[in-house]
Amino acid sequence: MNMSRLAMIPPEEPTANGPPSATPLTHLLDVDDLADDELERLFARAAALRTIGRGALPQTLHGHTVATLFFESSTRTRLSFELAAQRLGALPLLFDVGRSSLDKSETLYDTLQNLAAMGATMAVVRHRSNAVFTELVQRSKLSLINAGNGTEAHPTQALLDAFTLRRHLGTLAGRTVVITGDIRHSRVARSNIRLLRRLGARVLLCGPAQLLLDPSAALPLAEAVAQADAVMCLRIQHERHEGEGARAGESADSYLETYGLTEARFAGARPGCLILHPGPVNRDIELASSLVEHPQSLILEQVTNGVFMRMAVMEWIAGVLP
Ligand code: CP
Repeated sequence: MNMSRLAMIPPEEPTANGPPSATPLTHLLDVDDLADDELERLFARAAALRTIGRGALPQTLHGHTVATLFFESSTRTRLSFELAAQRLGALPLLFDVGRSSLDKSETLYDTLQNLAAMGATMAVVRHRSNAVFTELVQRSKLSLINAGNGTEAHPTQALLDAFTLRRHLGTLAGRTVVITGDIRHSRVARSNIRLLRRLGARVLLCGPAQLLLDPSAALPLAEAVAQADAVMCLRIQHERHEGEGARAGESADSYLETYGLTEARFAGARPGCLILHPGPVNRDIELASSLVEHPQSLILEQVTNGVFMRMAVMEWIAGVLP
């Protein structure tokens, strides 16, 4: 036997997470990764966690290290993942994209491999590219959680939105949810459309024709609002309009009057109709500033619920979701 050649083959090293495991990793790239029973368990778990005082939360993620890698800016998603990880006993590892070795041409794949080698077990990734996970998911040594990729998907936003709606409406079967704004460039819209329809809701889409998925299906917002149990407003995602020529959003001044949720349009809604927005809100553009704090607005409750839903999601990833 040629011992010198054998010596060149590195043995499989134990990682900082412990010995190499043959168990397949769980990833959450979109809501379709969840079976129906897993969805229900996530909703139930987020509800249960919501009732527990902060100091009494179970340390179910103890021993996990959750890396957050945000290639696009974020307030709600990044901070709620970090809080959720910390409150369940995990160590959040806040990766600073702008001050990392990515600017020395290291790839995202190699970056993740290095984070795994240091003991990270999950990576929460937001990226401008729709295709960012395509190869990573085949080769990653840590679990990937999509925190928003391009225009494709934002699964934890859709989960927290559905959770919030269910807290107020009960079942979503037969309910009508209007999503209005820049649907075409919105990953929030795409994940919400998939999930809300799966839960039995009727989803109506409104906005400037050029910002819809199907311009021929443009529906006046006032007509949709009159049928709605909830209206979800989306901002115009100017950062994704590059290279598309004339912007569909027109001027901020005219947008609210022409396409936005004004007080007058909301006055035409059924009693109890709810207002949602994933944030960030651009007041007096996609909706009237006065509606942000309207008694039927759930905008800040969505943010609160996001922490609990992300706790439940990370428990699911870790295999400890009850
Ligand atoms: N809703 C949402 O994704 O907000 P952030 O961009 O602040 O994370």
